[in-house]
Amino acid sequence: MKGKVVVITGASSGIGKALAYEFSGHGAKVVMGARNLEMLKKISEDINRLGGESAYCATDVTSENDCKNLILTAVQKFGKIDVLINNAGISMRALFKDTDLGVIKRLMDVNFWGSVLCTKKALPYLLESKGSVVAVSSVAGIKGLPGRTGYSASKFALHGFMESLRIENLKTGLHVMMAYPGFTASNIRNTALVADGSQQGKSPLEEGKIMPAEEVAAHIYKAVRKRKTSLVLTTQGKMTVLLSKFFTKWLDKLVYNHMAKEPDSPFK
Ligand code: NAI
Repeated sequence: MKGKVVVITGASSGIGKALAYEFSGHGAKVVMGARNLEMLKKISEDINRLGGESAYCATDVTSENDCKNLILTAVQKFGKIDVLINNAGISMRALFKDTDLGVIKRLMDVNFWGSVLCTKKALPYLLESKGSVVAVSSVAGIKGLPGRTGYSASKFALHGFMESLRIENLKTGLHVMMAYPGFTASNIRNTALVADGSQQGKSPLEEGKIMPAEEVAAHIYKAVRKRKTSLVLTTQGKMTVLLSKFFTKWLDKLVYNHMAKEPDSPFK
């Protein structure tokens, strides 16, 4: 990774932030995009203080212009792009029957369209470097989760997009990878949208008991190095892949019962 240029969206928090430290720790030059400029500046200064090289750009991934500026920041500062990690994302928690349609649209705009826009702007440079494009999906992108219609839909859409892109590029040298983390300690459940589009403001999980974002970042780093096409994390995630192939109805019940046990679950 030494000298490689890695662009990471949603780098101000959670997995994205951990990815920035992970890749720069292995000698990569990281270019971070997120909306919180103050936070990006702080992380960038810290990375540079630790001996790394980094840059950042205020980016709302739902804006095509912002995505273009992020990619141009990388090219202008470091001359190329080797890896794009489409990590920026938001979640939701509400039953579809109660959910304002704007919530589903927002989920698609950030999680799906944000990744499509950044990939489109970065693709010419990634083709030139025969680099990697990564999308951070979720176990909810393998199995639909109750209370997460918009979230699962956005991640399933991302899967179709990335798979097509991968096959289109079988002969170009572009590496296309999907990462499917399981529950990971981060800010995502605080910012998750509820039925009316406001933020949940708290996490129903004990964040300290689930996989740390740093561990997810370390797995993603290794998988990019090995140019894997897919990375599924956590035992629960791996079981989900297996069971969804052979025991769909049984897994439906298992997922329902598991999610119903969360505090304040919208279904019982
Ligand atoms: P987080 O909330 O800590 O970080 C999300 C990042 O995305 C933040 O930097 C946030 O500012 C950014 N973001 C949100 N909307 C944006 C927008 N419109 N433009 C630019 N940046 C935006 O959450 P976390 O967990 O680190 O999420 C990262 C990715 O990991 C997401 O795609 C999420 O779906 C995925 N994931 C998270 C899991 C978890 O349990 N935490 C599990 C599986 C996948």
